[in-house]
Amino acid sequence: MAQVVVVTSGKGGVGKTTSSAAFATGLAQRGKKTVVIDFDVGLRNLDLIMGVERRVVFDIVNVISGEARLNQALIRDKRVETLSILPASQTRDKDALTKEGVQGIIEELSKDFDYILCDSPAGIEKGALLALYFADQAIVVTNPEVSSVRDSDRILGVLQSRSKRAEEKREPVKEHLLVTRFDPVRVERGEMLKLEDIREILSIPLLGVIPESESVLKASNTGTPVIMDGESTAGQAYADAVSRFLGEEKPHRFIEAEKKGIFKRLFGGRAA
Ligand SMILES: Nc1ncnc2c1ncn2[C@@H]1O[C@H](COP(=O)(O)OP(=O)(O)O)[C@@H](O)[C@H]1O
Ligand SMILES: [Mg+2]
Repeated sequence: MAQVVVVTSGKGGVGKTTSSAAFATGLAQRGKKTVVIDFDVGLRNLDLIMGVERRVVFDIVNVISGEARLNQALIRDKRVETLSILPASQTRDKDALTKEGVQGIIEELSKDFDYILCDSPAGIEKGALLALYFADQAIVVTNPEVSSVRDSDRILGVLQSRSKRAEEKREPVKEHLLVTRFDPVRVERGEMLKLEDIREILSIPLLGVIPESESVLKASNTGTPVIMDGESTAGQAYADAVSRFLGEEKPHRFIEAEKKGIFKRLFGGRAA
């Protein structure tokens, strides 16, 4: 049986799709058969970040409406053998997704895959609710700012009340906190929330902290999930987070501002 993992947040633009692509790739690199589904019908970003946009023929809506079989819509990644992508459509409206349709897709994928990652759209409307409904685990993506933390808190409430597990009164969805776009220098200056504050408000286990990094944009421009960039801090932080997800212990990195040299500390800022 596959584990269904939703990557969610409530708020838009916090790094869900970036994280979905990185996590799916990371799990697949560890030999787990992984499929990542783009639930963001209308926006369709995941295929771009995964670098497969030119190979999209059919999408999740075509499968649900019976115009294509699941096998026709799945795209096998060319870099990582155990990785597949189910794209969203760009044109169709969001109502094309139905609970029964999604259930059928997840049941069929469960036969072949170890992990089914669901890249959620923003908000707590239909698309986001469907993305989280079948989840066994949730990666809650949060930026170190008040509005993002508040929306994540709200989505935690939704996971606990409106997921299938909650409806059936089964063991709750296992929640993981992934803090992204973390900039220790700005945190130190008081411009961003501290890690401790985020953890205290949301009080779910911390899976990882992904630093703000230019390599994320570069990676998405070239259609290469940033986890494949082993040189970048963001790539390394995602790889650590995948390890933790699979049960390994890893210390958190990139969470402290680099200590300035003694001269900068003594004279920095005060020089003419
Ligand atoms: N760690 C990061 N460092 C810098 N930019 C990031 C980082 N994570 C995400 N971004 C940028 O933030 C924007 C939103 O990311 P995206 O993954 O599309 O968010 P969402 O799916 O939540 O809307 C993109 O431009 C992306 O390149
Ligand atoms: Mg997205």
